[in-house]
Amino acid sequence: MRVKKFTPAGSAVAKRRRNVYSKGMKSPTNTSWQGVSGWYNKLVDNKGDYYHQHVVIPRVLKLLNLKADSSLLDLACGQGVLERHLSPKIIYQGVDIAGSLIRAAQGRSKNSLHRFTVGDITKTLPINKKDFSHVCLILSMQNIERADLVIANAKNYLKRGGKLVIVLNHPCFRIPRQSSWIIDERNKLQSRKINLYMTPLKIPITIHPGQQNSALTWSFHQPISYYSHILSGNSFLIEKIEEWVSDKESSGRFAKMENRGREEFPLFLTIKAVYLHN
Ligand SMILES: C[S@@+](CC[C@H](N)C(=O)[O-])C[C@H]1O[C@@H](n2cnc3c(N)ncnc32)[C@H](O)[C@@H]1O
Repeated sequence: MRVKKFTPAGSAVAKRRRNVYSKGMKSPTNTSWQGVSGWYNKLVDNKGDYYHQHVVIPRVLKLLNLKADSSLLDLACGQGVLERHLSPKIIYQGVDIAGSLIRAAQGRSKNSLHRFTVGDITKTLPINKKDFSHVCLILSMQNIERADLVIANAKNYLKRGGKLVIVLNHPCFRIPRQSSWIIDERNKLQSRKINLYMTPLKIPITIHPGQQNSALTWSFHQPISYYSHILSGNSFLIEKIEEWVSDKESSGRFAKMENRGREEFPLFLTIKAVYLHN
């Protein structure tokens, strides 16, 4: 069996591998969703998109297990969808680099105790509070090139024993442009085809495929061991890993096969870690 050595991102080998999808493209100077904020704000709306509402937010709230005296820092909060599902008593701070999404969050929030601030979460944040009981990153870590800087930064805002919850598009089964369904009609089997996994990737995501000059966002793929590596390197201990499947159900001729596929291949990977220092 050939065993491939794990190479932490940032190393020379990882750097060589990193830009396989951006050949000929200008490297993005930032990963803000400012340019797609109108579309994203409408898509997520007040309660969240389908998966926010049916899977991500209910399960994140359970995992966070916030109490009346908890305080939550929501990194890359977008237009603030999580805030609108929280108890009004929780101290909440959302940060995102996209000013238009932060303004949308402020406009939608009904709670004067909840704050939203424009900031780059890979750098020192423009906030004073440094002892949050919880920090979360909901579906945003993979949109930021330097996840290592985000984790190194997150710990500066957590108290000792504080919890960090990260929700990712599942890095094994949902690698943009590198994973797809394979349908075996004869055996009525639907399975996942994965072209690459260990190689860190920078992948452009076209927001409106088929539309000329469609806006782009970026996705950054890393294997799961990378996340473990940057968490342990910043004094986080992984407490729990959850894998969340879709709750959708098919009907019709291929229902059994499609439902099995959904149950077998999770959409999301969630890591809950505890911060050991401070
Ligand atoms: C997929 S959206 C997720 C937003 C929100 N958490 C949600 O679930 O709706 C990714 C977000 O990451 C933000 N982002 C990207 N790079 C960032 C950075 N360096 N600092 C802060 N936010 C960033 C984008 O502006 C965008 O709002």
